[in-house]
Amino acid sequence: MTFDRTVKIAPSILAADFANFGAEIAAVEAQGADWIHVDVMDGHFVPALTFGAQTCKAIRPHIKTVMDVHLMISPVDTYLQGFADAGADIITAHYEAGPHIHRTLQNIRDLGCKAGVALNPGTPASVVEELLDMVDLICVMTVNPGFGGQKFIDMSEKVADLRAMISDRPVHIQIDGGVDAATAPLVTAAGADVLVAGSAVFKGGGVSDPAPYGANIKAIRDAAEAG
Ligand code: DX5
Ligand code: ZN
Repeated sequence: MTFDRTVKIAPSILAADFANFGAEIAAVEAQGADWIHVDVMDGHFVPALTFGAQTCKAIRPHIKTVMDVHLMISPVDTYLQGFADAGADIITAHYEAGPHIHRTLQNIRDLGCKAGVALNPGTPASVVEELLDMVDLICVMTVNPGFGGQKFIDMSEKVADLRAMISDRPVHIQIDGGVDAATAPLVTAAGADVLVAGSAVFKGGGVSDPAPYGANIKAIRDAAEAG
């Protein structure tokens, strides 16, 4: 993975057909997805349960772009090896998931993956000050995590603060939750470059009719680049 700050669209397979991940991934990649965002939920850190490392391993061969794994789990550290073995390119853990985020990020890099830290809407930008040289990505949650299809919470001030803190470091700012063509420009204008979108990408299409995925991705990208 080479680093750049161009706008990247990362469809979340949380909004895809769970019985058909391989074909869904192939369809969104063919329709312009830059990364594939994989939401892992444990029914403890967040209310919902999705899937774990075994499913990640099964879908890995279908991903030609970047496998971006968002862990909404607590504890985190004991599970990291499994997600690295599954072939994750990026593993993102939540700041709020435990007392030792510094150790978690070190562990992710030691496993050979890019390391991300996610911040819930109630968590300020300042918590990453001591972490800036040990992360490759900061995920700004624009919903409280746990479900797709929630309403966007404007965190553009936090994004601008993070962008200033990051300075010229090769650290992505990712936005997750409620991203669509209307909300995307607010956060790219503030300095975000990776946009996760579930509902707004998968709406209206399917593996037998993937063109709407492409139109949805293009609409978000065009709006984001104008932002
Ligand atoms: C929320 C997840 C998101 C979610 C985004 O807990 O981390 O990745 O799937 O879904 P939309 O785009 O529908 O808000
Ligand atoms: Zn996510």
